[in-house]
Amino acid sequence: MPFLSPLQLLLLLPLLLNLWEIPTNASKNYISAIGDPGMKNPNTRIGFEAWNFCNEVGFEAPHMGSPRLADCADLQCPIIHEVVNADIVNKESVCKVHHKVKPSDNRLGAGDNFPIPGFQPYADPDRYAVEKELYLASLCEVSESGDPWQFWMIMLKNGNFDKNTTLCPENGKKVAKIVTDRKFPCFGKGCMNQPLVYHNQSKPVFNEQQEASLSGGFYGSYDLDADFSKGVGNKSFFSVSWKKNLTNGSWIISNKLSTSSKYPWLMLYLRADSTRGFNGGYHYEGRGMLRKLPESPNFKTKLTLDIKQGGGPNSQFYLSDIGGCWKNNGLPCDGDVLTDVTRYSEMIINPETTSWCRADNLVSCPPYHLSVMGEVIHRNDSFRYPYSAYHLYCGPGNAEFAEKPVDICDPYSNPQSQEILQLLPHPEWAVHGYPEKQGDGWIGDSRSWELDVGALSNRLYFYQDPGTAPAKRIWSSINVGVEIYVSNKRETAEWTVSDFDVLLPEEKQQ
Ligand SMILES: *[C@@H]1O[C@H](CO)[C@@H](O)[C@H](O)[C@H]1NC(C)=O
Ligand SMILES: *[C@@H]1O[C@H](CO)[C@@H](O)[C@H](O)[C@H]1NC(C)=O
Ligand SMILES: *[C@@H]1O[C@H](CO)[C@@H](O)[C@H](O)[C@H]1NC(C)=O
Ligand SMILES: *[C@@H]1O[C@H](CO)[C@@H](O)[C@H](O)[C@H]1NC(C)=O
Ligand SMILES: *[C@@H]1O[C@H](CO)[C@@H](O)[C@H](O)[C@H]1NC(C)=O
Ligand SMILES: *[C@@H]1O[C@H](CO)[C@@H](O)[C@H](O)[C@H]1NC(C)=O
Repeated sequence: MPFLSPLQLLLLLPLLLNLWEIPTNASKNYISAIGDPGMKNPNTRIGFEAWNFCNEVGFEAPHMGSPRLADCADLQCPIIHEVVNADIVNKESVCKVHHKVKPSDNRLGAGDNFPIPGFQPYADPDRYAVEKELYLASLCEVSESGDPWQFWMIMLKNGNFDKNTTLCPENGKKVAKIVTDRKFPCFGKGCMNQPLVYHNQSKPVFNEQQEASLSGGFYGSYDLDADFSKGVGNKSFFSVSWKKNLTNGSWIISNKLSTSSKYPWLMLYLRADSTRGFNGGYHYEGRGMLRKLPESPNFKTKLTLDIKQGGGPNSQFYLSDIGGCWKNNGLPCDGDVLTDVTRYSEMIINPETTSWCRADNLVSCPPYHLSVMGEVIHRNDSFRYPYSAYHLYCGPGNAEFAEKPVDICDPYSNPQSQEILQLLPHPEWAVHGYPEKQGDGWIGDSRSWELDVGALSNRLYFYQDPGTAPAKRIWSSINVGVEIYVSNKRETAEWTVSDFDVLLPEEKQQ
């Protein structure tokens, strides 16, 4: 291969990338795959879910109901000329907010009957939460051209794991006792609890031009003794609030997450989940925002991310986290947790995150890297393998023929086996619009990204049994947010997300 200057490479790029674009008649026009393209909808459609270590509920927090909530509100204001002789005060008073979800809906807990038929009031908190999500989604649903959608999803997760309980299966298998050398945080009995969650219901706010928009939020703590009337103190804390930028129309979703000594490992994501079927990390029907499921290699994600605080050295800030599910034989998941495997790929933009994948630590590297040119570079090729493009790779616990050495992903933190590829900023990925070097897009460097997630995810290694046809790489969850991994002191991350969109090539009509 002759030496090419970066400019020559850039000019070549569209050509090279076309190698992966299969249909020759693929149009260059993109359409949004989500219900709220670019976050421009004036109405709120926001769901909230809290998870324990294996994405379940376990036990509800006292007086909190099932940890599924939603804020879905339509804003209706008369157009100026309709308000004859109205002064400003009148205009404000005539704006109406139609709340689709009542506080009593958000308070529903395991065993409670749902106000409308069609939803089962399970006594089991895990099953009730699934049902409650479907119920809330039915209230929030927007029906447009046969592809209804429901809400953005805010996901909050507690990384505590009590090995004395059997709340979580092992690679999907129910076990009578958990035997493992792996270490997990847990302060004692009850460490896998659900959070206190409070809701500021959306209400109209007005800018200087007296234009109305909605604003609201969810906040709370995993520390059940937190008392917000006395301030947050040293307790864990999360907060997600939304308001509009009326200049460009986008929601500004402001997020904050703090760990505490009892809850040193927390996650908070904004998720675009599938509007039906299993979302990434679930084994049950969910609801969301993706009206059409993106498939590698042809889709993109857009977002503006402004990070104000990073969350400390162990914070894995995901510019993008994508989740899908397929079996090791390449077939799509069907809810059988023993053979389903959740597949994740995450771009970590915290510049303090180091590469565990190294020439002297191949166990943390995927067996091979696929170059932009489509060349397979084995991880033992220390001259050409881009180790620093990877934070780590871990393989599914139920993979029978994984190439050794292999690190198995945590068998407990998902309802089924999982496979994870964590990437770091690198020129290898920058060709798809991702950050080129560590520090890009970090604190003080707010950016609007257009990520060719489809092209990148098509180049990643994912395990499959030998001789099986390659899986369709379909992604049912596209997320942005933070995982503050076990920290020995209180850490805080703070950021805003706007302009989020998922784009698919427009299908040519026959
Ligand atoms: C689990 O059980 C062991 C042995 O009884 C005990 O020492 C430990 O504190 C328990 N852990 C938790 C989180 O309750
Ligand atoms: C909720 O409302 C209170 C009182 O207005 C405000 O101080 C707080 O910042 C809000 N929090 C969220 C997450 O919306
Ligand atoms: C937070 O914890 C530290 C160390 O345990 C303690 O010194 C401090 O007083 C605590 N602050 C509050 C507000 O509780
Ligand atoms: C709203 O968007 C405009 C245009 O993109 C931008 O200039 C402005 O700073 C934004 N306002 C806020 C409050 O972020
Ligand atoms: C729109 O407004 C958001 C929030 O103020 C801002 O972060 C973003 O950069 C703006 N987007 C564009 C495309 O100007
Ligand atoms: C590298 O690994 C491949 C695949 O396992 C193997 O065929 C090759 O011999 C190895 N090369 C070296 C130098 O170890």
